[in-house]
Amino acid sequence: MFIRVLGSAAGGGFPQWNCNCNNCNSVRTGKSGFTERTQSSIVVSGNGVDWILFNASPDVLTQLKSAGPRLQPARNSRDTGIKAVVLMDAQIDHTTGLLMLRESNKPLPVYASSQVQEDLTSGNPLFNVLKHYCTVDWREILPSKDAFFEVPGVDDVSLTTMALKSAAPPYSPHRNNPQEGDNIGVVLKDNKTKKTVFYAPGLCEIESHLEKPMNNSDVLLIDGTFWTNNEMLDLGLSKKRARDMGHNPQSGPGGMLEALSKINGPRKILIHINNTNPILDENSPERAELVSEGIEVAYDGMEIEV
Ligand code: MLT
Ligand code: MN
Ligand code: ZN
Repeated sequence: MFIRVLGSAAGGGFPQWNCNCNNCNSVRTGKSGFTERTQSSIVVSGNGVDWILFNASPDVLTQLKSAGPRLQPARNSRDTGIKAVVLMDAQIDHTTGLLMLRESNKPLPVYASSQVQEDLTSGNPLFNVLKHYCTVDWREILPSKDAFFEVPGVDDVSLTTMALKSAAPPYSPHRNNPQEGDNIGVVLKDNKTKKTVFYAPGLCEIESHLEKPMNNSDVLLIDGTFWTNNEMLDLGLSKKRARDMGHNPQSGPGGMLEALSKINGPRKILIHINNTNPILDENSPERAELVSEGIEVAYDGMEIEV
């Protein structure tokens, strides 16, 4: 199974267009130790030709271009290696790229929970807009159905999803009434090698039903959004706290590093990193702490083979 990280940043990307935090200024001015990142997305394939796109970021066109012929098999005058899109939630950074795929010459297969489908036909009606273009072929994900399924056309990879505790986006009709399915995690399995990858770019808490799949995985690709709960408040950039946004910060009691220290075996990679996070500075003490814990930081174009 091949995984390519298309975008490793959280919403806003890195640098964020209107942000002058130390990280954003540093990457904008080309300071060493800082690398630009686009918004959250990965692609997965069993054979290296047919791919599943996980999340459609606003940067999807740039991301597909960067992947070059890898995602464009060019068998016909109009073609793509992407067989389907799987959405982890209905957030802007994971869904707006669907509009950029509107030229699809057949209905775009999109796997999403019914909660995400509701958001994308009401508060953020992307599916309705796409009816005027390629249309969306919505395929329902039942987040807690304990069974693997395959995406037609993508051989050798199967997936199973699980509900994660989080918040629906601000425009969701059930923003203040969290529902199972607002946010999901996924286990990807290579049918031949039986190796698995756990992917959860938004993860607020490692609930007990996640312990087994996480411990049994060969690779963890998980929420690396913030270093501290108050990161954006401390920088005077926003009033939003990490946990309120559905993201467990890395540091401190109950944080991601503490949780990861109890998991032995899998390769551990942080993804969906916010531009304020000090780990984006390769020379920071926070990054050194990750290195000493054996935790990697995803970057755009990173390829993982399991
Ligand atoms: C999130 O995951 O919380 C998002 O990145 C927020 C956003 O896109 O604005
Ligand atoms: Mn996000
Ligand atoms: Zn910034």
